[in-house]
Amino acid sequence: CGIVGYIGSKQVAPILLDGLEKLEYRGYDSAGIAVYDGENIKTVKSVGRLKVLSELTHEGSLLPGTLGIGHTRWATHGAPSDINAHPHENAEQTIAVVHNGIIENYSKLKGNLEKKGYHFISDTDTEVIAHLLDYYYKGNPLEAITKVMHRMEGSYALGIIFKEYPDEFYAVRKDSPLITGHTQEGSIIASDVPAVLKYTRDVYFIENEEIVKLTKDSISFYNVDGEEIQKESKKIEWDVNAAEKGGYEHFMLKEMYEQPKAVSDTFSPRIKNGEIVIEELNMSEEDIKKIRKITIVACGSAYHTGVTAKYVFEGMARIPVEVDVASEFRYRNPILEEDTLVIVISQSGETADTLAALREAQKRGAKVLGIVNVVGSSIAREADSVMHTWAGPEIAVATTKAYSAQLIALYLLATKFAGVRGQITGDEQKEILDDIQRLPVQIERLLENKKNIQKFANRYLAADQVFFIGRGIDYGISMEGSLKLKEISYIHSEAYAAGELKHGTISLIEEGTLVVSVSTQKDLYKKMISNMEEVRTRGAFVMAVSVEGNLEVEKAADYVLYIPKTNKYLMNSLAIIPLQLFGYYIAVGKGADVDKPRNLAKSVTVE
Ligand code: G6P
Repeated sequence: CGIVGYIGSKQVAPILLDGLEKLEYRGYDSAGIAVYDGENIKTVKSVGRLKVLSELTHEGSLLPGTLGIGHTRWATHGAPSDINAHPHENAEQTIAVVHNGIIENYSKLKGNLEKKGYHFISDTDTEVIAHLLDYYYKGNPLEAITKVMHRMEGSYALGIIFKEYPDEFYAVRKDSPLITGHTQEGSIIASDVPAVLKYTRDVYFIENEEIVKLTKDSISFYNVDGEEIQKESKKIEWDVNAAEKGGYEHFMLKEMYEQPKAVSDTFSPRIKNGEIVIEELNMSEEDIKKIRKITIVACGSAYHTGVTAKYVFEGMARIPVEVDVASEFRYRNPILEEDTLVIVISQSGETADTLAALREAQKRGAKVLGIVNVVGSSIAREADSVMHTWAGPEIAVATTKAYSAQLIALYLLATKFAGVRGQITGDEQKEILDDIQRLPVQIERLLENKKNIQKFANRYLAADQVFFIGRGIDYGISMEGSLKLKEISYIHSEAYAAGELKHGTISLIEEGTLVVSVSTQKDLYKKMISNMEEVRTRGAFVMAVSVEGNLEVEKAADYVLYIPKTNKYLMNSLAIIPLQLFGYYIAVGKGADVDKPRNLAKSVTVE
């Protein structure tokens, strides 16, 4: 998750430890450094906080040397452990690598390398890079690196040391950030600005598929063909505080902007040649055909993705789905029959109620599939199979990118089940996958509209209550939109199934009450328009979120935000973006502590 590397005239280990500490806010589970001591590459790594690493190395003094790379790890492949921590090395310990990102084809590469006699000691995808470099290294580092780049699929930011080249080291990036800078006393790389600010404000942003060679006095850049290229440095004007947030005002906003990546990182390793491949599922086609019911259990926003998933699994795969909040499920003596699949969803993998629900389900003989963001977390360890979301660490308490990644995991699962059970044709499956693959760009487009949403939000800073309404999937979206608003802005808000309003809630509508109407399902447009008119005639101000082309909606709404067209089952991924921005800007306008709302915790490990 964090990378720092340095070569120069100073002792490197303290610089690495200090730089990694500056990246601590990003979250990590283990850390390690490798230093060239004049003869050998010495590596120290450990699970736990940086403090442990600092103690193990006596604040770095046990690792003398002026060339080194360091890493804080957020586990993806392989649980957090000393062995899985970075740096990773080849068997002779002549090459050391730190890596951020995910090598999607790592199991294939690993298989090939094993056939050639390479022996693996960790469960990581990164170790593949160390051995692959070893395989291609014939005395020329740059050549080995470009060859390895041609073999790897996925995302990577790398720092690499070659023992035979003690006066230089290398860095590479693809789809995972990395910067470099030069100072009087040496050259430095880091995955993020805060780690270098102490040394320089002039940094080079390394672009995709660029390679960097660093020496004490120089930095040179190469393309993937090994040809030297020229780059301009940029001056960083941010202070340390802003730098941690990549220049964004809050982590929540930064993480909203990371959604296109979280979404594509979650689907891309699982779509291969037009097929959905979920290796970790541990279920044969026969097993999938046998499922008679799905029970989804989760808390908070993860529960909301479950609500949407119910409509998707039932509509597309025709499997009955029950969704429950974990704190209810665990105490209600649930009925789990043979052939019920239990799915638990959790960003942290540590939510106490969700974990207890998982155990309860297993006790009753059910098989549990976990959809989890944190590798090595309790739920990831205890579930019978785990499908990871690849959102990366999320810092803001109010979830955005982890939520979006959970939706993707559920869509893939539902589409897979629908295909295997013959509920959709191959062509239909292909269309859905094409639509899923278009989501990142569409989300990016929606984020561009933030200024308009901010303007609108500023009109409602004094609201004391807001209602969100929708039907079907739009009801699920409304629940999350409402939660985003209330948890960070402290404005009371509720989500209602639009047709249920007239059975009580409508009496709360007064002159000027804001009603947010989510209407993305074509077959329900007309019904939603009636509901909007119902509240409007009673004085409500209606903001509608609907799909481009549904001009009808303008007749019944005072303000409309359009989302691009996509498959009806995928609408949540797009409609949630303006609602996240809306909640965010209301909270910003009110001066609330957006990233750390009062009374809430990111991970609730008590019942
Ligand atoms: C807390 C967080 C929510 C989250 C919920 C479930 O309440 O504040 O944002 O949705 O826990 O967390 P999990 O880690 O299980 O997804």
